[in-house]
Amino acid sequence: MISIVIPTFNEIRNISEIINQLLILDFSSDLEIIIVDDNSSDGTADKVRQLVHNDKRIRLINRVGRSGLSSAIKEGCLCASGELVVVMDADGQHDPSYIRKALKCIESSKVDIVIGSRFTIGSRIRGLSKNRERGSSLANSLARLSLYGYYNYLSDYMSGFLVFNRKVCLEFIEKIDVNGFKFFYELLAVSKGKLKVDEIPILFKERLHGFSKLDLSVVWDFFISLIHSFIRRIIPRRAVSFALVGSIGVFVQLFTIYFLMGVFNLAFEQVLPVGVIVAASSNFIINNLLTFRINRLEGKSFFFGLFKFLLVSSLPIIANIGVTNLFYSQLSVNTFISQIGGILVVFIWNYAASSKVVWNN
Ligand code: GDD
Ligand code: MN
Repeated sequence: MISIVIPTFNEIRNISEIINQLLILDFSSDLEIIIVDDNSSDGTADKVRQLVHNDKRIRLINRVGRSGLSSAIKEGCLCASGELVVVMDADGQHDPSYIRKALKCIESSKVDIVIGSRFTIGSRIRGLSKNRERGSSLANSLARLSLYGYYNYLSDYMSGFLVFNRKVCLEFIEKIDVNGFKFFYELLAVSKGKLKVDEIPILFKERLHGFSKLDLSVVWDFFISLIHSFIRRIIPRRAVSFALVGSIGVFVQLFTIYFLMGVFNLAFEQVLPVGVIVAASSNFIINNLLTFRINRLEGKSFFFGLFKFLLVSSLPIIANIGVTNLFYSQLSVNTFISQIGGILVVFIWNYAASSKVVWNN
């Protein structure tokens, strides 16, 4: 059996066409098409339900309360029953004819995965603006660098079109972080070079209808994934995001303090508490938008959350001084090492306590 997994988010105008194209493909084995929809507001799931009535090879997973491209693909793959699994987009950018080519390739080159590459000899990109193509190509080089030592022979690390052997890849797919970035990139990162991958060139076409879902949060996820891979994934992915937001907070605090001192001619002691509160609040807002967006707080809960966040992070300000002094007196007389020690302990506290208390995660 071959399983085709298609993630969808607001693709009502594309979904029938792509499914119909897939149903008429002539495979020698059985076929199942798994649509993983994230409760699209345009009625994509209902459209799929109608199609299921006509053809039982179609299946729908409608997710409520879980979201994200990578996690949708992961869920679809875990529910698949085929020996081989195909992952592709719903918007027509991946032509169904590549499935047959990829199946041939996986058989002849005896690899575990075959991907459709947008950046190899024979590939073409029609469906990206010049700017997005440049951005994509730069992101691709960074992705290769972040996986140093693994898979440096590939040309497209963020492809959305892949065919793989389910049994071989399953143990790695289970480990993919649900908050992760692109499914294929995550699979490469968690498998650490253990999978054999080959590529076929593809023409990446224009979208049939609707818009790309690439936004600021996807770009953020990309940077988090890069850093996460660079540090060899030794800490949880969300902790990386939390730390990056924390370092933005450092700049917010410095800026606020020097701004208030410069413009209003105030003393350092007067503006320090303001700077600290502004920085902590901005950390809360960015974490709520990005790091914890799956549990995002809105309305009344937003303000209650902000209050809890300030409370949770005020403890370590006191603790920071205590811990740094302790490091200084007990372990190291080096002021730098003592401060880093203090910051580390405070970071762990802040991350753990706000995950639990503020975002209830
Ligand atoms: N379930 C679910 N949840 N599906 C999603 C989500 C989500 O949060 N976000 C996007 N999708 C679906 C879309 O409906 C579409 O079928 C497919 O995933 C690709 O999304 P697009 O929004 O069309 O992505 P793109 O064309 O900008 O990005 C392409 O290039 C990337 C690499 O730069 C795609 O081919 C990606 O798969 C690829 O990784
Ligand atoms: Mn697309």
